[in-house]
Amino acid sequence: MWYTEVLRALHERLQPTTYLEIGVSDGHSLSLARCRAIGIDPSFSLTYPVDGDIALVRTSSDDYFARHDLGTLTRGLPVDLAFVDGLHLVEFALRDFINVERHCGPRSVVVLDDMLPRAADEAARHRHSRDWTGDVFRLTEVLRRYRPDLVVLPLDTEPTGMVLVAGLDPRSTVLADSYDAILAEYRRPDPQLVPAEVLERLDAVPAARMLASGLPEALADRTRDDVAWREGVLDAVRACAGTAFVGSES
Ligand SMILES: C[S@@+](CC[C@H](N)C(=O)[O-])C[C@H]1O[C@@H](n2cnc3c(N)ncnc32)[C@H](O)[C@@H]1O
Repeated sequence: MWYTEVLRALHERLQPTTYLEIGVSDGHSLSLARCRAIGIDPSFSLTYPVDGDIALVRTSSDDYFARHDLGTLTRGLPVDLAFVDGLHLVEFALRDFINVERHCGPRSVVVLDDMLPRAADEAARHRHSRDWTGDVFRLTEVLRRYRPDLVVLPLDTEPTGMVLVAGLDPRSTVLADSYDAILAEYRRPDPQLVPAEVLERLDAVPAARMLASGLPEALADRTRDDVAWREGVLDAVRACAGTAFVGSES
């Protein structure tokens, strides 16, 4: 399943009030939003029609979060759905995740793109291939290790895979506090050694199975309190992916 079809389905099923996208490019993924949408990219050039309630900011994500309060663009609301698809280097994606999570609510969903490279060349920090994931795939292990409270679900999507993250905690400082230690271990020079389970997607749930599993409905369920909601999400993740995908604190 193509990644934009998954994003389209998430928009339809989660019905976010506020959507944030880091890395807009030609606007393909941004054009799927049907709500207040904010796009951040230093050099976007839209060719897809984006209309509605959209704010586009022409700067890098680091610059934006350093100098602005996203709350002014979200009108004080949390980001319900975010798509992180900016610069594909692990340190940039880690900072993007940290900054995005600060603006999420406990029921928000963050989708990380390009998390399943198909070859070591595609995962190189120094780009030399047409399709490029860089080394952002390392973030999956980082999140699982440092944030076992999160649901971290790799999705087998075309072309280069995604990871769905739920159970967010905007007050968590674990990743920011561990930033230097994480990069000392996970930022490695080329050539990148990509684990076989990443290359072969052994660890990833087919996107169609995830969409048919009841997980989107569990994520979108507004009838339950926070505790019951979390249990419903974890049950749905276990049903579609098995226990290996659920953080150890669950
Ligand atoms: C893969 S493209 C995004 C594609 C788009 N999300 C889609 O699926 O239609 C990556 C984009 O990230 C942008 N980018 C590069 N560095 C960035 C940064 N530091 N902050 C935000 N965006 C960045 C690039 O300009 C490029 O347009």
